[in-house]
Amino acid sequence: MEVPDPGTVPSLFSASRQDTSGRPAYGSSSIVKVPRRFLSFLLLTCAVLPLVSSGARSPAVALQDPSPKIIRGSIADPSLDSKVETLLRKMTLDEKVGQLVQYSAGQPTGPGTGRTDYKDMIGKGQIGALFNITGAREVNAYQRIAVEQSRLHVPLLFGLDVIHGFRTEFPIPLGLASTWDPVLVEKAARVAAQEASASGVRWTFSPMVDIARDARWGRMAEGAGEDPFLGSAMAAAYVRGYQGSRLDALDSIAACAKHYVGYGAAEGGRDYNTTEISEPTLRQIYLPPFHSAVNAGSASIMSAFNSLNGIPATANPFTVKQILRKEWGFQGIVDSDWTSVAELIPHGIANDGATAARKAFLGGVDMDMVSSLYHDHLANLVQGGQVPEAAVDEAVRHVLRMKFALGLFEHPYTDETKEAAAMLHPEYLQLARDAAERSFVLLKNSAGPDGVPLLPLSGVRKVAVIGPLANDSANMLGSWAGLGRREDVTSLHTGLVSHLGKENVLHAKGTGISEGSDQEMADALVTAQKADLVILTLGENASEMTGEAASRSKLGLPGRQQELLEKIVATGKPVVLVLFSGRPLTVPWAFEHVPAVLAAWFPGVQAGPALVRTLFGESNPSGKLVVSWPRSVGQEPLYYNTLNTGRPANLPDSDPKFVSRYLDEPNSPQFPFGYGLSYTSFRYGPTEISGKQLKASTLNAGLQGGKEAALTVTASVTNTGQRSGEEIVQLYIRLRGTSVAQPVRALKGFERITLAPGETKNVSFTLAPDALAIWSDQNRVATEAAHVTIWVSPDSAQGSPAELEIVP
Ligand code: NOJ
Repeated sequence: MEVPDPGTVPSLFSASRQDTSGRPAYGSSSIVKVPRRFLSFLLLTCAVLPLVSSGARSPAVALQDPSPKIIRGSIADPSLDSKVETLLRKMTLDEKVGQLVQYSAGQPTGPGTGRTDYKDMIGKGQIGALFNITGAREVNAYQRIAVEQSRLHVPLLFGLDVIHGFRTEFPIPLGLASTWDPVLVEKAARVAAQEASASGVRWTFSPMVDIARDARWGRMAEGAGEDPFLGSAMAAAYVRGYQGSRLDALDSIAACAKHYVGYGAAEGGRDYNTTEISEPTLRQIYLPPFHSAVNAGSASIMSAFNSLNGIPATANPFTVKQILRKEWGFQGIVDSDWTSVAELIPHGIANDGATAARKAFLGGVDMDMVSSLYHDHLANLVQGGQVPEAAVDEAVRHVLRMKFALGLFEHPYTDETKEAAAMLHPEYLQLARDAAERSFVLLKNSAGPDGVPLLPLSGVRKVAVIGPLANDSANMLGSWAGLGRREDVTSLHTGLVSHLGKENVLHAKGTGISEGSDQEMADALVTAQKADLVILTLGENASEMTGEAASRSKLGLPGRQQELLEKIVATGKPVVLVLFSGRPLTVPWAFEHVPAVLAAWFPGVQAGPALVRTLFGESNPSGKLVVSWPRSVGQEPLYYNTLNTGRPANLPDSDPKFVSRYLDEPNSPQFPFGYGLSYTSFRYGPTEISGKQLKASTLNAGLQGGKEAALTVTASVTNTGQRSGEEIVQLYIRLRGTSVAQPVRALKGFERITLAPGETKNVSFTLAPDALAIWSDQNRVATEAAHVTIWVSPDSAQGSPAELEIVP
């Protein structure tokens, strides 16, 4: 696969190149023997590499570094202060409260809409933000009321869930994360910002940076998977892409990292459910992606629906006021989720709307999305002395700050004449195809009839493409497709027809996703018999089975798809299975009986071309799993960075009975986190480290702002196959002997490299002191004396270990 050529998409690169955020250099990885083509890639990625491949800035570590980076043009820009104060001083209490009120005025994305008399309210200065409205004309119409009729002419903020593209739909976020390519994700987010801003949207409720360890949770599709290090890199990439080099550029949109915090830990994987998370796990697993988003300048954060250790996240002073505001110095908006202020009543911490409003507000939530309780009660609460007006002022500062930062006072309106031409540029589609290709994870590729791996396909004359998702456009768009339209999508069937010619592509549905008839099944079997090979497309319905409110207690193929799979395989034709899903699916039968399986997630508008190029070998798969792939649903929650327990099952001399295991299933996943095959093969040399001993005292001094590298870790990687390929090289560590038990492995670096056949590169990672630090039993970040095992490996289950001692 070619390294992206900067010359083809000039407009996408300007933002990251001009970045002046002063992000700290955390250290970096390096590759010895750099070929020319790779140099251009390095140039492109230089702004990101420290986050990508260095020692991780662990969540807690950032506590040592409480001042967020001052970024000109960002929410933290000090030049905003005086503008905000001048306006704030002119506001009445009611006008202040108005800035904290937000309603959905379009297609609802939750239950109810709050109210409908928006126009009147806007004129009175009673609304600060609207969302779910699209189209420059409609946005401008609402904005005109705010700017021309309200007393202080304060513009409205217009938000939308722009999740993985606006009109040019990219793969779902789980797929984008599977690229392990933050540079590409940044570019995709930039495209989304350019299209959305042209439509009047200047605020997206994205990225979703929730760690997802349980595939039953439908919203796993919307995030970057189970790992905090990778999740942090992706979080920052989205923020940089959306917000560009300056928030007040007309094509920048404000990011909103969500859902703060712990939402993905919903018990049983059931959406909106309770979460119980210890402080070390909160600090080391769930918070880092949010901290990363904040450090990248995210202008807003959304509070989550869940209760966290008994306190709902929408009324949680510890996570919002202590951690987000005090420890991280966040200055942007904390927005509630849809009616999550009112939901404090069913949560059981408020018995009426006024109490819910008071608790959410004093818990640090600035803006009330949809529930209308701030509108109804906040002014009275201030007048009754239950909420200090100074607290209202502070919340309003956050809102005005964002409006000034976005330049809304100077440019409240969107140019309606430019909207249509801003969508679906050819270079956007090219990027969408590239993203889709890199998101695919090749799970299995064993020998076909001629004894060589079935993929890539060659010499195939007639193909039958079978299954409910073969000629599907709507599902390719994923669960949250912004303004994506099915007519913009090229399906797999269409892609195959243009590649092979109509006469060589047979098609049958076989079954629908959830139900199917005997006749459909019989037709598919007849069709399969007529072809040399079957491409079988199975999986989930994107909008009904993945995303919000789409938890599943079974993770197999819905409806009659398993039956179709078994019957097609029984025809004896070679079968390539393409899985479309928002989560890993438990299909052990397929992994046993089908020679080639590709996880395609939901690939976006360029699904067809990307799949055809991959199946026929023009593109070599390089995506790797960002979630552990379960064998059965009973293994969930399933994640690689687990604690070892006192009775681990995998020791050679462990007792056959009294160990932590299932009687009827291995503990191991079907495929581990970080796993993914290529059409070529790679050999890893031993993991080598620059020293055998480090001092905890020196490392701890490094945590107080020191930037010296603690350790260099190197391994050689060789392409042992016949074709060029990209490999995602991963660095893991394990600490033993610490005050709080640490995971059996934790990702601390990764690097995407390209290797020609026979080529070897040495990949080096520089670990900073914070990569070796933990959240200790003293409730602080510390490096402790420990035995450290380090692996450079192709996934979380392989690699040769190197051993290091941290002494006091
Ligand atoms: C509820 C969802 O949880 C959130 O992710 C989304 O941004 C809001 N609705 C607004 O649509």
